[in-house]
Amino acid sequence: MAEAPFTPRVFSGIQPSGNLHLGNYLGALKRFVDWQDRDVETIFCMVDMHAITVWQDPAALAHSTRELAAGFIAAGIDPEKSTLINQSQVPEHAQLAWIFNCVARMGWMGRMTQWKDKAGKNAEAASLGLFAYPALMAADILIYHATHVPVGEDQKQHIELTRDIAAKFNHDYGVEFFPLTEPVIEGAATRVMSLRDGTKKMSKSDPSDASRINMTDDADTIARKIRRAKTDPEPLPETYEGLKDRPDARNLVNIYAALSDRDVADVMAECGGQQFGQFKPALADLAVEKLAPISAEMARLMRDPGEIDRILARGAERARAISAPILDETYRIIGMVR
Ligand code: TYM
Repeated sequence: MAEAPFTPRVFSGIQPSGNLHLGNYLGALKRFVDWQDRDVETIFCMVDMHAITVWQDPAALAHSTRELAAGFIAAGIDPEKSTLINQSQVPEHAQLAWIFNCVARMGWMGRMTQWKDKAGKNAEAASLGLFAYPALMAADILIYHATHVPVGEDQKQHIELTRDIAAKFNHDYGVEFFPLTEPVIEGAATRVMSLRDGTKKMSKSDPSDASRINMTDDADTIARKIRRAKTDPEPLPETYEGLKDRPDARNLVNIYAALSDRDVADVMAECGGQQFGQFKPALADLAVEKLAPISAEMARLMRDPGEIDRILARGAERARAISAPILDETYRIIGMVR
């Protein structure tokens, strides 16, 4: 197995396009903090180059990148313990991505759900970057020989593709150079759903702001969105299995469990039988208690963007100490004259 010789290293990324929302926080960011606090090397990334696969206003992109960095730090990422970077400041990501463009097959990329969803019926007009997106993602991970990637469920297919790219590279060049990275998809909120429609993923591209909780929302807004979240007329069942065909209710229970670091069975033991008139205010209080300090800290950090830029510059320096030798070795394996 290719895993054996690799020391554990965690990498993950978030796009700085639009608002950081509760799905990103519970499915990704909060898990990143858990990883950082276990004794393992962690690298976290604002993937600004992924963001431009669809057009971004330059000023808005710069703002979102800094705000996302503030979000990471406010949520508990310590830039001394973890390496915090924006992708474009570590050029080895893009350099390795080119090589992976030559390893990955058109058919693999065409099967990606995210490509099909985002390009939709008008694939002819989509950017080439949107199609090649997963090869850059594989490069983000493999340029550090990362072994574990915590993500929400929607990214699972991309991590599987990353493994396929690593395996094909290793096979084509007769090496055991890239690890077969493990996706880590765990916890009660690996797929947080829209507050307006429990069958749709909570997402930054949903036109309805009421469908998501943004990490920049103030306490009143958070509470209002939860009070108005779509539910059904039944009380909560006694067991989690009873939520099988009740996506809106199940979503709120999952959010409650993830925010309070409990498992869903535990939440059902406490809240089973409650009406939403009772459950929603408890959830709103919990959400405000957990999220309001993060949004306040983000706002405080954003008052000093120069400090955020210094943190990202230091992160890039640390990251390049790992990525540059791996890129160099990759070039050597391929036969590029150094
Ligand atoms: P992005 O920016 O869409 O989302 C960032 C992270 O948040 C998770 N997530 C969710 N989790 C639970 N419920 C939701 N509703 C929800 N929405 C988003 C995502 O699964 C993800 O973990 N391609 C990636 C960014 C990326 C990356 C990487 C990730 C680029 N390179 C390398 C890991 C490793 C993306 O667009 O995530």
